[in-house]
Amino acid sequence: MPNPEDALLHSWQHNAQAWIEAVRGGAIESRRQVTDSAILLATLGRQPERVLDLGCGEGWLLRALADRGIEVTGVDGDVGLVEAARAAGSTPVHQASYAQLAAGEVDIGHGYTLICANFALLQQDIIPLLAAMKARLAPGGVLVIQTLHPWSVAGGNYQDGWREEPFTGFAGDWQPMPWYFRTLASWLNALDMAGFRLQSLQEPQHPQSPLPQSLLMIAE
Ligand SMILES: C[S@@+](CC[C@H](N)C(=O)[O-])C[C@H]1O[C@@H](n2cnc3c(N)ncnc32)[C@H](O)[C@@H]1O
Repeated sequence: MPNPEDALLHSWQHNAQAWIEAVRGGAIESRRQVTDSAILLATLGRQPERVLDLGCGEGWLLRALADRGIEVTGVDGDVGLVEAARAAGSTPVHQASYAQLAAGEVDIGHGYTLICANFALLQQDIIPLLAAMKARLAPGGVLVIQTLHPWSVAGGNYQDGWREEPFTGFAGDWQPMPWYFRTLASWLNALDMAGFRLQSLQEPQHPQSPLPQSLLMIAE
């Protein structure tokens, strides 16, 4: 029985094709309406020269930033998603698991003015990874994390712990994905423990939605 962190990355092997179709087909309403523009605006607002997209998936954000003249590098643990990002024109896109990145086993470059992670920090043990990312930032560089808003997805259980995303309502062939629910305090604590200082916290929200669609943190 694999541990949940391995099962999480493994689920992406199964789900890569359905994910590519969902993202590229605009099938995820919250992304279309709120969260894609939230991460783009947060990133562009910093006027970064060099961006690393951590857990870049099929690479939509790499392409959006490159279209605006920003030098981008992607990294993701799933080979199918990395290949899809490369095939869609993004380079360089490295393939590495977060465990490899935390251990410094893969050279993904350094001197980034901004590192972003868009719905990509889904595992329990994020502190070593974030600390490793800090070492990849240029002086004054920032980390931008967009994630599920803990209050919107808590479902009456506001405690850190593993959950399962069944992808109900998504078209295609999906395998449930384990992911680690983190309270707001737990996010802020992880940033602090990894040596970051929170600079800005946003709660992107559709005007007609009673709950925010995401939590967006900028840390330096
Ligand atoms: C929800 S997708 C987000 C992809 C992309 N950031 C986006 O916004 O479309 C989560 C991504 O995290 C990557 N990921 C999850 N666990 C990982 C791990 N342990 N190592 C490397 N990548 C991982 C997956 O392969 C997947 O591409």
